[in-house]
Amino acid sequence: MTDLSSIERDLLAQIDAAPDEAALESLRVSTLGKKGSVSDLLKTLGRLSPEERKVQGPLINGLRDAVAAALAARREVLEGAALDARLAAERVDVSLPVREAPEARGRIHPISQVVDELTAIFADMGFRVAEGPDIETDELNFTALNFPVGHPAREMHDTFFLPPDHHGQRKVLRTHTSPVQIRTMRSEPPPIRVIIPGRTYRHDSDQTHTPMFHQVEGLVIDRHANLANLKWVLVEFCKAFFEVEDVKMRFRPSFFPFTEPSMEVDIQCSRRGDEIRFGEGEDWLEILGCGMVHPNVLRHCGLDPDVVQGFAWGMGIDRIAMLKYGMPDLRPFFDADVRWLNHYGFRPLDMPTLAGGLTG
Ligand code: DAH
Repeated sequence: MTDLSSIERDLLAQIDAAPDEAALESLRVSTLGKKGSVSDLLKTLGRLSPEERKVQGPLINGLRDAVAAALAARREVLEGAALDARLAAERVDVSLPVREAPEARGRIHPISQVVDELTAIFADMGFRVAEGPDIETDELNFTALNFPVGHPAREMHDTFFLPPDHHGQRKVLRTHTSPVQIRTMRSEPPPIRVIIPGRTYRHDSDQTHTPMFHQVEGLVIDRHANLANLKWVLVEFCKAFFEVEDVKMRFRPSFFPFTEPSMEVDIQCSRRGDEIRFGEGEDWLEILGCGMVHPNVLRHCGLDPDVVQGFAWGMGIDRIAMLKYGMPDLRPFFDADVRWLNHYGFRPLDMPTLAGGLTG
């Protein structure tokens, strides 16, 4: 029947030209739907004689199958095109840098990093951390450390005094971490092996001094603790901290009321322009004060200098941080400027290691 084949040609052309899935769906409804044109043709079969049906049946069913197949094929093409369009529209540029999660965006302050590093190094040598308050009595900050009242060494400390309390006592912002030596010796029996990192305060401000700064104190009290032990501890610390194979140190005689003998220690370095390198060169840089604990200090803590002895040292944390990480000015350390912190700070999810910062 020419009739049927022209219907088929016409329908298949329409299906092929359907621009989108909605148009295709309305074509499906108008052909194969309950009241569709092809369904209507199928319904006419019932009214035909068996002979006619034998001829018409396969033709009309063939038309239905051809339309169904064309609809399915067109649907597949349109779905594919829709997916391609969506993929193109929702393209993700995987080469874009990922924005850091909040917990990865914060920064560890260089001082905290250096305190972690030096704690790890001294812990490895058997030291534990001791702490004391920032506000100290005059007795602990000075007198017990063998600064007699009126002694000129007190003046060297540019002390911040607090207003007198109801006992008339003037507390001070501790000028060094040394009073924690006294607190430690008064609260535990020897052998003692502690480091004391903490905040200290002096009335001073320029490129390398801020009114609040940080020190780490070391104290060893034992029957035989001696200068050779002190030297070994300091040399090992400097090698580990500055990450050098070997480092020469120079012990110069000095004066501190709480040690006898007292020394200042310089470490070997080379300077090229602004850059300082350790473990090489002909130059020297002062990094700490140290000595054997003065017998008067031991006595002030109830220890017998004929039975025990010890050594101590005090080092500026800010200073060694500036040297290790090449930070030329101390003042921005405490400005809380996020740009400075982003530049000089450390990533919080990096684990501090013995030699943390430089190689890490
Ligand atoms: N407390 C001293 C200061 O701030 C540093 C110091 C020197 C500490 C010698 C010590 C030491 O323990 O033995 O200037």
